Amino acid sequence: MDFVDWLNRKDLEYRNGELYFANLNTLNIVEKYNTPIYIINEQLIRKRYKQLKDILNLGYKKNRIYYAVKSNTNLSILKMLRSEGSYFDCSSTGEIYTCLKSGISSDRIIYTGNMFTNSDFEFAIDNDVLTNLDSYSQLIRLAKIYENKGKDKKIISFRFNPEFGAGHHPHTITAGKKIKFGILETQIVKTYTKAKELGFKKFGIHQHIGSGITDAKDYERPIEKFLFIIEKIVNDVGIQFEFIDFGGGLGIPYHPEANPLDLNKYSEIIIKNFRNIVEKGEIGEPILFIEPGRYISAEASIILTQINTIKDNGYKLFAGLDAGFHTLIRPTLYGSYHHILACNMKNEKKVLKYDIVGPICESGDVLGKERELHDLNEGDYLAILDAGAYGFTMSSPYNSRPRPAELLINDGNIYKIRDEETFEDLLKSQIIPKHLK
Ligand code: LLP
Repeated sequence: MDFVDWLNRKDLEYRNGELYFANLNTLNIVEKYNTPIYIINEQLIRKRYKQLKDILNLGYKKNRIYYAVKSNTNLSILKMLRSEGSYFDCSSTGEIYTCLKSGISSDRIIYTGNMFTNSDFEFAIDNDVLTNLDSYSQLIRLAKIYENKGKDKKIISFRFNPEFGAGHHPHTITAGKKIKFGILETQIVKTYTKAKELGFKKFGIHQHIGSGITDAKDYERPIEKFLFIIEKIVNDVGIQFEFIDFGGGLGIPYHPEANPLDLNKYSEIIIKNFRNIVEKGEIGEPILFIEPGRYISAEASIILTQINTIKDNGYKLFAGLDAGFHTLIRPTLYGSYHHILACNMKNEKKVLKYDIVGPICESGDVLGKERELHDLNEGDYLAILDAGAYGFTMSSPYNSRPRPAELLINDGNIYKIRDEETFEDLLKSQIIPKHLK
């Protein structure tokens, strides 16, 4: 992809050597706010949601997008997606609580957890949230809790593990015999049979093969297997599915030379095959769900950060920032690439190679290795791209560094949507026992 097109796709451009995001000059933003800071582009979140929705609508009208809340839980993002008509995929009771607090009703939530506790189940039942289970034993426990509460067992779903997974890193591949997620082919029929026996009336089924998939072909084999299993369950157990959930995982081009996921191909692989079995008439007309997180939230946010130190140790050049793995852990955790741009290219001089590093006391605190940037100075500002998914949600106050603020840009206006944490915030939940007072 041409570099300028790649930037434009992310609503970024240079005007007179100054970096603009969502039509605002990043240099003006850092004048007014402390760095590091996350900047979120509302229109880009809406645009990504609509792109996916349009693609689904073209292929199969009965569809829903469940935004994977774990990628970015900011209440404003949840609210804007709700206003677009989104549904929400939660992986914990905390995420469900967050959705409910933002005004999302429980009938718009699916709870795809794993290693559920009984209190997780109680929370889901009390709040009327649809649960997507991860093991046979959980079914037995959940059914008991329904019975103890004297509540009707309405709808239940299970996560199928198709054994063919994909993802940008081994930690994000979520299918396979050795992987903790889902129920394997050998136990899935027995599980639905039991659920029917226990008195559940309606059913759904789910799979999520991994995260950060940019080649739509990676979905082919898992989906073939998923659809085969769905037909088998329908025939062997004698149930119909209300919905079929194909999970998330849709990747984005983090690198300027990476190919973006071909949405048409993705939809063809998922929807065409799905429609084929619907048209055979055996499985009814279930609603098609997908659960994208990253695709909607990643590109819509950047981190603005200031260089405090330029160090030439005689062997290597380092540019030291106020952002680090406490603000974005993906490079450290997965070796992920995040493109880094200078906010000001006005004085473009010679290009040098820098390791872009954070202030955390660990050698692994490297946001970018050997990046070619024009001659940088202490005090300059940089933008770390594609930080909207698994950026803030995986941040930490490690080294007692309070988490940064978040800003939202919409139609040229800037709104502060999260305050930066304070030192007080870092200590507020600690209790000192009497003998140490
Ligand atoms: N549905 C389920 C059941 C999931 O487990 C996930 C992600 C998603 C949907 C959304 O996946 P997405 O569309 O965002 O790829 N921290 C890692 C990603 C972990 C994803 C975990 N599950 C990263 O930064 O790459």
